[in-house]
Amino acid sequence: MGHRALIFDSGMGGLSVTRHIRDHMPWLSMTYAADDMFRPYGTKSAAALRARLPGLLATLAIATRPNIIVLACNTASVTALDDIRAAVNVPVVGVVPAVKPAALTSRTRTLAVLGTPGTVKRKYVDDLIENFAGDCRVLLLGSTALVALAEDKMSGRGVDMEILRREVAPLFEGRFGADIDTVVLACTHFPLLVDELKSISRQTINWIDSGEAIARRVKSLLSKIPENRRREPPDCALLIGPDAGPARRQVFAQYGFEHVVGLFPDV
Ligand code: DGL
Repeated sequence: MGHRALIFDSGMGGLSVTRHIRDHMPWLSMTYAADDMFRPYGTKSAAALRARLPGLLATLAIATRPNIIVLACNTASVTALDDIRAAVNVPVVGVVPAVKPAALTSRTRTLAVLGTPGTVKRKYVDDLIENFAGDCRVLLLGSTALVALAEDKMSGRGVDMEILRREVAPLFEGRFGADIDTVVLACTHFPLLVDELKSISRQTINWIDSGEAIARRVKSLLSKIPENRRREPPDCALLIGPDAGPARRQVFAQYGFEHVVGLFPDV
């Protein structure tokens, strides 16, 4: 009995959002789906993502019967949110870059948005900046390597700090790098690396992500949806691809997903 949410990402990034949802709604049943096979999303064209995601989410929704879907992926949300909403019959909450809270708190009026290459070039993000950070200088930086580093960390392989340094360096080396006081973590994988990011950056930087706001939004939407009458099965992670090995299983278990199922173990 109760509600079920489907959390979706290209990989383990959505766990950074799951954490906040669990904190706010410990009673909520969840299914996690990771599209390992098609990651990274950040290098895929908008057309490729729009061709894949609505059908995939519709299929997952039929299989898992959620009351709500959390698209815990900035790249997918800024690219295909409307198409996905049109393909499913439950509310979809999309995780998008936290530009608004960043602009509200930046004292230097100088921000960076650190996302995937796909996210930082989408019009959706330009519009967020225009609407909410019009009086700020905003540096956009895309990185795919950081997605792989976060996956490495969550798969027990450790984080290569040299690569991390190299990827983040352009944030602070540019013309107004010294003035940046707020960095928007505009990919759900990146909050998983926040300790490492802090350890190599100025201590005064405020790292902002959308996880907490998304959890509040999910809670508010669910309060208006009648609860399921069925008994919910245990929370399960569905990994689309071959990598459902022991290290990943262990991490999913730590986030409350008791069962991990590889959907296409042979690809
Ligand atoms: N976690 C995803 C995001 O929030 C995408 C990572 C990727 O597959 O490129 O953008």
